[in-house]
Amino acid sequence: MRNRVEWRDGTVAEIRQIAEDVRQIAFAVDGPVPRFDPGSHSNFKVQIESTAANRAYTVVPAAPGQIAIAVKLHPQSRGGSRFMWGLGVGEKIRLTLPENRFELSWRAAHYLLLAGGIGITPIYGMAQALVARGASVRVVYGARSRGLMAFAQELQSLLGDRLVLNDNSLGDHVDLAAEFAALPADAECYLCGPIGMLEAAKAAWTASGRPVSRLRYEVFGDSGLFAEKAFSVDVVNRGITVDVRSDQTLLDALIGAGVEMIHDCRRGECGLCAVQVLETQGQIDHRDVFFSPEEKSEGGKMCACVSRLTEGHARIDVGYRG
Ligand code: FES
Repeated sequence: MRNRVEWRDGTVAEIRQIAEDVRQIAFAVDGPVPRFDPGSHSNFKVQIESTAANRAYTVVPAAPGQIAIAVKLHPQSRGGSRFMWGLGVGEKIRLTLPENRFELSWRAAHYLLLAGGIGITPIYGMAQALVARGASVRVVYGARSRGLMAFAQELQSLLGDRLVLNDNSLGDHVDLAAEFAALPADAECYLCGPIGMLEAAKAAWTASGRPVSRLRYEVFGDSGLFAEKAFSVDVVNRGITVDVRSDQTLLDALIGAGVEMIHDCRRGECGLCAVQVLETQGQIDHRDVFFSPEEKSEGGKMCACVSRLTEGHARIDVGYRG
């Protein structure tokens, strides 16, 4: 795992449509690209409505000297995915060398990998790495339809009958309880998908009596239970009201308004960006994995990098830690 963020210049080398709503974009990177683990991600400098922003994408297996990502175009995106889809071969971009916060342990006797939608990006690299090492692995991959499943063909060739594809439009869904019941005692499960899938998996994993440390996961920050809408917040002690656009995070809106914010992962994992919610007229769409279900239902705090109000207005305190 890399501990230092290292920015480089990259040039778009290749663009491939790999599912109806997913493009794989490969970047030739200036300078040597160290070997990186499956599950790693890179940050990219993007322009959103002429404002500079950073977006993180999981890297997928790529040719030597290149970093590749798979980007799903979000329907109403004016943000990162729209920018990425607007890139052409030969265009330049700043990006970081991959770093990993979703690492394989390499200690399990068997691995169950679960992917929902674009959550396949880290799972695809993990499956390749595990097969290369001769590990025992099974992949269960679901999406709203077969046409939306990036890397399905490659996984089929790699795994054969160790791959299950669930086309939700045909009524096929993962049976979490059955999958977990079939695992040997020392198995590990890695999951990447929307927050609803993660919550269901956590509940089923706990019910199966397995150690919490053997379920590892990552969610995508835009995978809330509600569609993104604009909302606003009063920031107490700063005396300002900040409008948050539908394509913007609360964290970016606060920073853009000059509010000093501590943050790190921008993925709802570290909790550093958490703000206290004093009063709200809208519902909080919690999209982080930092707070417990109990803390989320209390509604007193939210991670500004991924969570948002469904709409309306709230009063928040950004300095409650003192
Ligand atoms: S920056 Fe880590 S949870 Fe928001």
